[in-house]
Amino acid sequence: MLRIASPAAMQELGLVWRREGLTVGLVPTMGYWHEGHLSLMRWAREHCDVLVASIFVNPTQFGPGEDLENYPSDLERDSELAREAGVDALFTPVRDDMYAPDHGTWVTVPELTTNLCGRSRPIHFRGVATVVCKLFNLVQPTFAVFGEKDWQQLAVIRKMTRELDIPVRIEGRPIMREADGLAMSSRNVYLTPEERAVAPHIRRGLLLLEDLVRSGQTDADALRAAVGKYYEAHIPMGRLDYLELVDPATIETVERVRDDVLAAVALRLGKARLIDNIHVAFER
Ligand code: PAF
Repeated sequence: MLRIASPAAMQELGLVWRREGLTVGLVPTMGYWHEGHLSLMRWAREHCDVLVASIFVNPTQFGPGEDLENYPSDLERDSELAREAGVDALFTPVRDDMYAPDHGTWVTVPELTTNLCGRSRPIHFRGVATVVCKLFNLVQPTFAVFGEKDWQQLAVIRKMTRELDIPVRIEGRPIMREADGLAMSSRNVYLTPEERAVAPHIRRGLLLLEDLVRSGQTDADALRAAVGKYYEAHIPMGRLDYLELVDPATIETVERVRDDVLAAVALRLGKARLIDNIHVAFER
């Protein structure tokens, strides 16, 4: 496995692979891998000639007071996992090589980013879209793989790629969960044992919502109220950032469930801000 830190060296190699007509798969990450990351790599491994994984804790997607400086990291362990997952090249740039001190060019996708995480993290998606665009230019992948836990991020990346005519196919993969249903996240490491014990209720609240929708409740306020009550009872120390029902494509809030809907939640539990979602789809 190659380990590449220099963006220029990465791009040179990416261009060589492209000229040779190889299928290059990219899994962009911020490191501290768990089974969710590895499932993306295993899927990508089966669909490409060259598999690249990147690890970069992108400072521009963190707002003031967020966990940029404490973001968990273990590069040596990730490197070993990358080898086991069949990664051909691990791209690990450093901040100063990705952003010059006078960096001032940004990619914004305003329509999809005013709701959900965009509301409480106003600069987050600008940072994500910008770094993903840079990673695409550096690695020159044929396709890139992202997890559906960050559903809004995936929607933003799809729109950016389409509208900027970036020749990269975007693949979304299902959320990976712990045995008790908690969505896997590098941030789960922040949870105390007491917080970890109640965290699976985040998912259970979403399953309750799905049951209510399938049994005929279509009023978004009533659905939000029922799940909010469930969270108050089962995660009393949790602070709800948002619980929304949105159109899965436009990320606009829906007042009544008439078609496929995404129920998305962000909840603060101690030092962690955890997100999860459920896509309630209807047979046509
Ligand atoms: O989902 C993540 O880990 C990050 O937002 C990403 C896509 C690697 C961009 O920094």
